[in-house]
Amino acid sequence: DKTKPISIFGASYDLDQTTNVTPRILSKVGRNLHNKHSHPLNLIKQRIQNYFYRSFRNRNGNPLFAVFDNLSPVVTTHQCFDSLLVPKNHISRSVSDTYYVNAEHVLRAHTSAHQADLISRGLDAFLAVGDVYRRDEIDSKHYPVFHQCEGVRLFNSHQLFSSVADKEGLGLFENSRRDSNKQETHTMEAVKLVEHDLKKTLIGMTTHLFGKDIEYQWVETYFPFTHPSWELEIKYQDDWLEVLGCGVMEQQLLNQAGASGKIGWAFGLGLERLAMCLYDIPDIRVFWSGDRRILSQFYVKDPETPITFKPVSNYPQCISDMSFWIPNDYTSNDYFDLVRSVGGDLVEEITLIDTFKHPKTEKTSHCYRIIYRHMERNMTQEEVNVLHTLIGQTATKELQIELR
Ligand code: PHE
Repeated sequence: DKTKPISIFGASYDLDQTTNVTPRILSKVGRNLHNKHSHPLNLIKQRIQNYFYRSFRNRNGNPLFAVFDNLSPVVTTHQCFDSLLVPKNHISRSVSDTYYVNAEHVLRAHTSAHQADLISRGLDAFLAVGDVYRRDEIDSKHYPVFHQCEGVRLFNSHQLFSSVADKEGLGLFENSRRDSNKQETHTMEAVKLVEHDLKKTLIGMTTHLFGKDIEYQWVETYFPFTHPSWELEIKYQDDWLEVLGCGVMEQQLLNQAGASGKIGWAFGLGLERLAMCLYDIPDIRVFWSGDRRILSQFYVKDPETPITFKPVSNYPQCISDMSFWIPNDYTSNDYFDLVRSVGGDLVEEITLIDTFKHPKTEKTSHCYRIIYRHMERNMTQEEVNVLHTLIGQTATKELQIELR
């Protein structure tokens, strides 16, 4: 029904010919996985934040980078494209690539949509984290919603050249020609210092995330809002994988945002990509799962804790209970270990479901529920029975329990 306005985050939007958002995609708006406690995307966000907080402080000892993780994903076409100098005929503007709420509003296709606004507010260093939307097929690597972290840092002449001993004659700007190394308004010395700072910062972040042995390479590329521009690729499972785009910000963008005396760098990275590499997550749909077996793997106190994801199975569970009298020096953990070593990966969960003390003999009985599940196929009840019996026999022998 294209006559009724839609409401997103309390704001009402009239629909028109351009509208292509679906109820399904709108149901993702506001999920904010990156802000969900213990979600893998939240852990990555915290690790990136940790790196920037620890590495960059201002003169008062406060974090230099301000973090924004709750900006509305509904932005104007001006924010998403025009403010970033994206050409009118650029493919990213098309209704086949971007989700339009109406002709003026889109679900942001990248967190770069916030660059100009935050710079206009007077910020010199910030991160913007959020959900981004691109029309795409759905498979193990693609999903129409994913998450990005944007980073921007600006320098005035004094800040950029602060480490140079003889500053005589150094400046940020000149009138010259654009070439593959620089924009027409920038001096070569300014661009080289910005490039150096950008690459040092991003390699610092990458080694903070992946460790100092990570292999990486810079690849020159093109973005409408940076020049020169690069992609950072890291070696993952013998392949080069692109993890972020970055570059020296287009001066016209800065001038229009009220920062004409400054030069800056910007980067944008995909949180899912990083999380998939860091945690060995094979499928992007894992991030949207409500399965406790998946989510509980990321319940860690410290986000820097290493985690290796163990895929879960969609085949059905088989449940069998086991009751026995326990000897005096028995602990449940002995039984858990034994079940795991006999049952291996077929055992998904073991829980103590009942304890009972016999009034006459004073012997204690435990009842455990074992959940069996195969990763690649259905298990027959017969198979489960064989394994369950073997567990009972082994426990009788090794733990001196007495089956009931
Ligand atoms: N916005 C770009 C993307 O989504 C990434 C980027 C951000 C590139 C900032 C350069 C500077 O692909």
